[in-house]
This record gives sequence, structure tokens and C-alpha cells, in this order.
Amino acid sequence: MRDNQDSAQTSREVLAITGKGGVGKTTFTAILAKILAADGVNLLAVDADPPVSLTYALGAQPTKTVGDMRSRLIEDPAEKRKFNERHTRDVVRDEVLIELDGMSLLVLGRAEGPGCYCGLNQLLKFGIESLTEQYEITLIDCEAGIEQINRHVIDSISKLIMISDATMKGLQTAAYLKDIASKHGVMGPYETGLVINRAGEGVEALVQKACEMGMDVLGVIPPDENVAAYDRVGRPTIELPDDSPSVVAVREILKGLRRAR
Ligand SMILES: Nc1ncnc2c1ncn2[C@@H]1O[C@H](COP(=O)(O)OP(=O)(O)O)[C@@H](O)[C@H]1O
Ligand SMILES: [Mg+2]
Repeated sequence: MRDNQDSAQTSREVLAITGKGGVGKTTFTAILAKILAADGVNLLAVDADPPVSLTYALGAQPTKTVGDMRSRLIEDPAEKRKFNERHTRDVVRDEVLIELDGMSLLVLGRAEGPGCYCGLNQLLKFGIESLTEQYEITLIDCEAGIEQINRHVIDSISKLIMISDATMKGLQTAAYLKDIASKHGVMGPYETGLVINRAGEGVEALVQKACEMGMDVLGVIPPDENVAAYDRVGRPTIELPDDSPSVVAVREILKGLRRAR
């Protein structure tokens, strides 16, 4: 386990990965996490999609989630008292964080149930945000769509990475997300970038189109038979070989992101 308690990072980055359902958000996030962990980056991965696909893609199990903790707090006054006595960040870290090889994982899980959780949500949000301050890079695999941006689930995003499939419809969705992000960012407009996934022949025209639509194209990921084959049998994406086409492409995208910093 890494000691993140006393090593607040100065150049922290929070990258949120978004896009419509099935475009490859989780695949991209897991591959990026794999590369960053191998590089020795002090990394927090946040699985913010209720089906917890990122958790499995990282080879982990959702043994502890923020949603479960919240239910416990609501149902059990003794837990609530314990919570009130400590810094929210410390409670989230001690009770929910899952330590993996080379990174920490925070699973949001489901956030549903009776009653109004607004106050508690705010507390948890604060806990999560102060937790990200202790990591050099936080990657958030968002649920599809714009809800989490609209609801300000995590506000302190430094870059919103939109994933699109290789279709005009995908690009239009990305342009829409970019527009929402530029209007809803609490700390000013989020920086945004676009990744076109599963892009084969003819991708140049799409890249050109995306540029014309005002998007910053971070890179293109080719169709990768290994990704599909691993998913078919439930093998974690993080175990993909380093020379798999998608891993090579994401490494190039990361190089570009680092140059832009
Ligand atoms: N580059 C790729 N090559 C081949 N299959 C891919 C690629 N990216 C994603 N997939 C497949 O597409 C499906 C959706 O990917 P996923 O990452 O779960 O999308 P999302 O998280 O956006 O819903 C998965 O079955 C995955 O195996
Ligand atoms: Mg997903």
C-alpha cells in the first residue's frame, strides 16, 4: 500500500473520461491506468459508473463502495457519529479506498435509496475531492452522458477527455459534451480533448471534421482484437500486453497530454 497521507502532490491532475455508452470509456481509462501505474505515478482511479466496469477492468472487485458507506451512515447512528468525529477524507480513505498494485481505487457504486441525501452527498463529495488532492493523477471513469457533469459530482476536473466512436454521431455527442462542460465548469470551463476509439480506415476525415468542430483531438485508438477477446472471457483489460495496438495508441495519447502540460 502506498503512503498517500503525508505526500500531498503539487501538480495534481484530475482527468474525467466521458462519452456516450459503449464507446470505450472504461477500456481507455483502464489502459491509461495501466500505463500510469507502470510509470510509477501516484494514481487514484475512480469508478463512477454504477455497473463498476472499471473495477473489473482493473482486475479488482467492488468490495467497498461509497454508495454502501452512505447507506450505512444513513441506517446506523453509531456509524454516523463515528463519521462526524473524523475528517471526511480520512473516513473515505480508510473505509472505502481499495488498494491495488500500483494505484488506489475508489468505487462510487450505487447512490440510490429513500430519503434525501443532499447533506451527506455534499460531505462525501468533499471527502472525495480532498482525497484527489493527495494523488498526482486521478482518473475518473464517468457514467455515460452528462449527468455527472451537470450534477457537479466531482467539480475539480482539470481535463475532460471525451471518447467517441468513429462516427459523425459520436463526434456530435462529443461536441455537445464539450459545450455542456464549457458552460458548467465551476472553476471555469474545463479543458477538453477528444479520443476517437475503434477507428479504422477513413479516420482522417473524422479527425479533420472534429478539428473543424473546434475539438482538440488527442489521438485515435484502432480496433484491437485483444480488447474484445479479453472482454469476451472477462479477463481484466489491465492485463493487456504492452504491445497490444490499443495500449500503444493510449501511450501515444499520454505523451501528447504530457507535452501539453
Ligand atoms: N479499441 C477497441 N477495440 C476493440 N474493442 C473495443 C475497443 N474499445 C472498446 N471495445 C469494446 O467495446 C465495448 C465497450 O467498451 P467499454 O470500454 O466498456 O465502453 P464504455 O465504458 O464507454 O461503455 C467492450 O465490449 C469493449 O471490449
Ligand atoms: Mg464503461
